[in-house]
Amino acid sequence: MRNSKVPVVTIDGPSGSGKGTVAALLAREFDWQLLDSGALYRLTGLAASNHGVAFDDEASLEVLAEHLDVQFEPIDDGLKTILEGEEVGALLRTEEVGAMASQVAVLPGVRRALLKRQQSFACAPGLIADGRDMGTVVFPDAPVKVYLTASADTRAKRRQNQLQEKGIDANFDRLLADIMARDDRDMNRAVAPLKPAENAIVLDSTRLSIQEVFNKVVDAMRQQGLI
Ligand code: C5P
Repeated sequence: MRNSKVPVVTIDGPSGSGKGTVAALLAREFDWQLLDSGALYRLTGLAASNHGVAFDDEASLEVLAEHLDVQFEPIDDGLKTILEGEEVGALLRTEEVGAMASQVAVLPGVRRALLKRQQSFACAPGLIADGRDMGTVVFPDAPVKVYLTASADTRAKRRQNQLQEKGIDANFDRLLADIMARDDRDMNRAVAPLKPAENAIVLDSTRLSIQEVFNKVVDAMRQQGLI
């Protein structure tokens, strides 16, 4: 069982809502631990693909998720992710690996295997946890829960800009279709679907800047006496 005295702030929402950016800013501001839970699902999908394990072979995927050989090494601008001895940071962020992640994430065995690993990130002085079910399943007693959303168009546009900054030309309609397919899988799966926790603060980053979202979360943390 995790140490419930460690304060946890959960930030859930669909891909492209800005939750990863806000979570990283908060962790840096207060020097708290950061859990990017999507990375664990992406690593499981990637490991499955590397080992030729089918995305519906639940028993094998559960074992793979349980024994993921992964290291996160701090570097200047974040973390270096090493899967089975290989640096996979850039590969992990691709749409292809995101789609693999959302396929393995529908399986209860995979979610069970990753649960304890996620909860073990709750260490002093506190944890910012970003994902889809952080407030509903993994840290249900977190004192501050945020659900960050944005319109699908806004999220596809953001993704297109990110790719263009890297010199990659991506088709907007294709990105929008990918985002909507992933939303559909994440929101309608039987286990731990993406939805706001009952007591979550719901924010829409279509109309709020990242700084405004950040400020609202900090206010909530202050109100709860976490900082
Ligand atoms: O957040 P990110 O885009 O990296 O997540 C990739 C996929 O992993 C999501 O689309 C979702 O299917 C899955 N995921 C999940 N539960 C989490 C985090 C991610 O099911 N807590």
